[in-house]
Amino acid sequence: MARLLSFFAIFAGLIYISLGTTIPSPQAVKRDDNLPARVPYVFPEPGTDPIADHIRQRRTNGTLLDLDGVLLNAPLFAQAWDGLFGVIRDNSTLPPTMRELFILRVAVLNNASYEWLQHEPVGRAAGLTTEQLLVIRLAAPFLPDMNVTSIMGPDLTAALLFTDWMTKSVHVPDEVFNGLRQFLNDSQVVEAVGTAGGYNLVSRFVVSLNVDDKMDVEVPIPN
Ligand SMILES: *[C@@H]1O[C@H](CO)[C@@H](O)[C@H](O)[C@H]1NC(C)=O
Ligand SMILES: *[C@@H]1O[C@H](CO)[C@@H](O)[C@H](O)[C@H]1NC(C)=O
Ligand SMILES: *[C@@H]1O[C@H](CO)[C@@H](O)[C@H](O)[C@H]1NC(C)=O
Ligand SMILES: *[C@@H]1O[C@H](CO)[C@@H](O)[C@H](O)[C@H]1NC(C)=O
Ligand SMILES: *[C@@H]1O[C@H](CO)[C@@H](O)[C@H](O)[C@H]1NC(C)=O
Repeated sequence: MARLLSFFAIFAGLIYISLGTTIPSPQAVKRDDNLPARVPYVFPEPGTDPIADHIRQRRTNGTLLDLDGVLLNAPLFAQAWDGLFGVIRDNSTLPPTMRELFILRVAVLNNASYEWLQHEPVGRAAGLTTEQLLVIRLAAPFLPDMNVTSIMGPDLTAALLFTDWMTKSVHVPDEVFNGLRQFLNDSQVVEAVGTAGGYNLVSRFVVSLNVDDKMDVEVPIPN
């Protein structure tokens, strides 16, 4: 973990240098750096806002994320988001590795570093290996080759290809859909499409509103 963080520190430092802006202090480089977004963050005190408190319940250590601070500018929107993404994250019957693959691959395809930074640890905890994370980060869209299949296995390879088509083309060919379908039952197919589609919303949201000032930061390469 320390190695991961120091990598992020060096990586983010390089990006800041290349942009010619100030170099952040090392302790400022973490998943949530609390850098400004395109709207102010709204962080109600605990116990003062039921919607914010409900979001806190499913956040690590009960801490609101910068994403939540942006969403809470529109409280009903934050509440609905909490409901949908709570189900996607906590009530899914998908294999956890496949769920996180959908999320991380969408982050890569849409250059949503904020989404990747939040989910790389979640993906590892779900069981994705560094080798698999490298494939998710680096494999060319649409073309999983033999090596990808041997690292990911047939089910995650099908999920990777499905995510590429759904995200970049919208229209998913039958053979790509059926390639994933064989591994999932009816409810899981709906969950799979809802997860990949939902995180397409997340990625577009965090990039367009520049949450945590990450819109121009390159998605890190896992190590
Ligand atoms: C949660 O709190 C623990 C203990 O203080 C800390 O080690 C950990 O980094 C925190 N996690 C996050 C995601 O903030
Ligand atoms: C969804 O998951 C949460 C967290 O694990 C759990 O508390 C809740 O009961 C689940 N909801 C349903 C309807 O199963
Ligand atoms: C689909 O599979 C999941 C995981 O095994 C299971 O929890 C769920 O009940 C199944 N749903 C249907 C409709 O068979
Ligand atoms: C993501 O970044 C890569 C590399 O800079 C670029 O080629 C690609 O067009 C970007 N994609 C999107 C959706 O912004
Ligand atoms: C698979 O990986 C090996 C070693 O990195 C490489 O030499 C080979 O060309 C790769 N095969 C394909 C089909 O990409």
